[in-house]
Amino acid sequence: MVRHGRSISFSGIDEVESKGILSKVLIDNGVYLGGSAIGTGLNRATRYYLSERVSKASIPEHFQNIEEGVINNGVDLTPVEDSFYVIDLGIVVSQVYQWRKYFPRIEPFYAVKCNPDPVIVRTLAVLGCNFDCASREEIRLVQDIAKDLPRQPDIIYANPSKARAHLLEAVCKGIRMVTFDNAEEIKKCAGISKKIQLILRIVTDDRGSQCRLSSKFGAPRAKWRPLLATAKKCGLEVIGVSFHVGSGCRDGTRYELALKDAREIFDLAKKEYGFNMSVLDIGGGFPGETHSLWNPQEEIDEEPESLKKEGTEQGSDDGVSEESDRFMFFKEIAEYVAPIIDDLFPEDSGVRVIGEPGRFFVAACSTLCCNVIAMRTNECDGTFELEPHDDQEHAQRLSEMTREEELELVNGPKNRMDRTIRNLSLGGTETETVLETMVEELQSYSRLYARQNLSQQEADAYNDVIDIYDEDFETAADILGAPTEAQTKNMKHTVEGMTYPLVAMDKDGEETDALITLAAAGEAAINGIVMQAVADSGPLQDDIAYTINNSVYSAFNNIMFDHATVRPRVLRERNGKVFASKTVDGILEFDADTMPDAFQVNQQLYTSTVFGNTCDSIDVVARSVLLPKLEVGDWMYFQNMGAYTMAASSNFNGFQPSEKFYVCSVQPEYFEALIAGPDAEDNEEEKKDSA
Ligand SMILES: Cc1ncc(COP(=O)(O)O)c(C=O)c1O
Repeated sequence: MVRHGRSISFSGIDEVESKGILSKVLIDNGVYLGGSAIGTGLNRATRYYLSERVSKASIPEHFQNIEEGVINNGVDLTPVEDSFYVIDLGIVVSQVYQWRKYFPRIEPFYAVKCNPDPVIVRTLAVLGCNFDCASREEIRLVQDIAKDLPRQPDIIYANPSKARAHLLEAVCKGIRMVTFDNAEEIKKCAGISKKIQLILRIVTDDRGSQCRLSSKFGAPRAKWRPLLATAKKCGLEVIGVSFHVGSGCRDGTRYELALKDAREIFDLAKKEYGFNMSVLDIGGGFPGETHSLWNPQEEIDEEPESLKKEGTEQGSDDGVSEESDRFMFFKEIAEYVAPIIDDLFPEDSGVRVIGEPGRFFVAACSTLCCNVIAMRTNECDGTFELEPHDDQEHAQRLSEMTREEELELVNGPKNRMDRTIRNLSLGGTETETVLETMVEELQSYSRLYARQNLSQQEADAYNDVIDIYDEDFETAADILGAPTEAQTKNMKHTVEGMTYPLVAMDKDGEETDALITLAAAGEAAINGIVMQAVADSGPLQDDIAYTINNSVYSAFNNIMFDHATVRPRVLRERNGKVFASKTVDGILEFDADTMPDAFQVNQQLYTSTVFGNTCDSIDVVARSVLLPKLEVGDWMYFQNMGAYTMAASSNFNGFQPSEKFYVCSVQPEYFEALIAGPDAEDNEEEKKDSA
């Protein structure tokens, strides 16, 4: 591994200078220091954001000159009814650090399509990242955002099918690396500039990935030679190979297969066509969510052999280990993949290895807060009509499970699970049948996914200390030590996963617990596992249907395009009362006396549907999730809304994109060390050792 000196650390950036620029990014964008997008920061940002909006919002024009008596007296004329994002730039900073730690040799070219938020893009540019752009607009965005930076990022035009005008503009703007997977594209490139450096995108075996891409992109094996020959004939240099194993890949073996293909192409390109390939592009795909409902193993194991693609005949009998765990986190994937790269493309070969991470950098950085704007219930005369069966009762029963019972339900073998369920059952045969169905359904779910989900929910529920990547997530605290007393007194804290509680002070300087707790573990576990199973087992009419102020046409397009599963959580106070959206003097108020009983601790949970706000029945954000009974005006929030959400959001039905509020869970004191990167720490260690 190349060791960098202290000042020029990564992609030619100076960490001291970059720290200054990054701090300015925070100041320029009013970034709130003091929390993450899932804990204290969410709470504080939400309160601040809502309060600010209310106190600063001007009275809309349509209220002027209105006839007396048309609007009732006392109506709040500046209602807070827009959804908004809370974006934690600290996650972005720490994800880049993680990348560099586990992929020291691989230059990240952030895939702008994943989230083109200008503040995120600038943050990444300051950190020394390069960019993968798919259109001239993305190129313009990156170049404009980075124009005053000391280092201009490199860009790869990584869309194998480009409009001529876009390509022309890209070349004029200095972009040289361009991917292709077909002969027409080579001819298009050759017609524009002989300076273009082609990178051959190949088909991958992307089974198991959350979003598969190889059904549209990539040259199959049979086309490798003809394409190289065409490039040769057109007088263009093919400088490398790129692939994408599908977005949201949990399986290192997918990269392994593609890397072996790439090696083969490097060899045959040199031998048969005289191309000295020097760039290996391993694409994106790396997971970045704090949890995932995706279970790739089932898909991989179930897909018939006949569906394998041309050019990926290897399947599972090509030397890729069958025993390998196919539900990997980033670190595991990187530890699996990096040695294979070093083996197939040794460092001294001079091959430049690049990657195009999208979701890994941004998925977890964003939380979306949505307001309940309408609701429908099955309630008649104060009771629920339970159709077609009594989910309310078993939901209640399940919500009272002990931790041991929950764990047994998730981990235990079938007979133990059966027993647990039976013990929990309400006695009536109908309920027992429902519960038995649930047990059966539950068993078809990956135990691994269930466990991960459960432990994540537990972390969510009881801590502000969220361990993003399971036990092995290395935090700024691990790396840099605990913050000093002065730092904590200044209401600042460090990246996620730190091993001591985040400290937040109220305005009198008193330490407070975070006001918001997340959904209780039992509730969340049931939401994620059992209720999903129930929902999947047949049509179910939920007790309550909420409509929120966002939709699958807006941020929740990730449900359609990214195959994401989102889970609503309720913004609530630690004592179990729902976060109220009432405001007094611009400050959100929790009014314990007037809070309805349904909001109390151990409250009844109801199976709920969450609809989006458009007039389309496809607009379902979540089905059959357990929630306490909310009211119009209450708030929900959704984590992991950073990847492929705002990027593909539309204005369908006239709804506007959600506003963004930025927080940073990494205190600026840490920027320098994080920008300097793991190499710098190693150097320090080495210096100490040799001293
Ligand atoms: C060419 C290319 N590179 C990179 C990415 C980013 O992928 P991910 O978000 O899975 O890292 C994509 C996503 O579609 C892509 O098409």
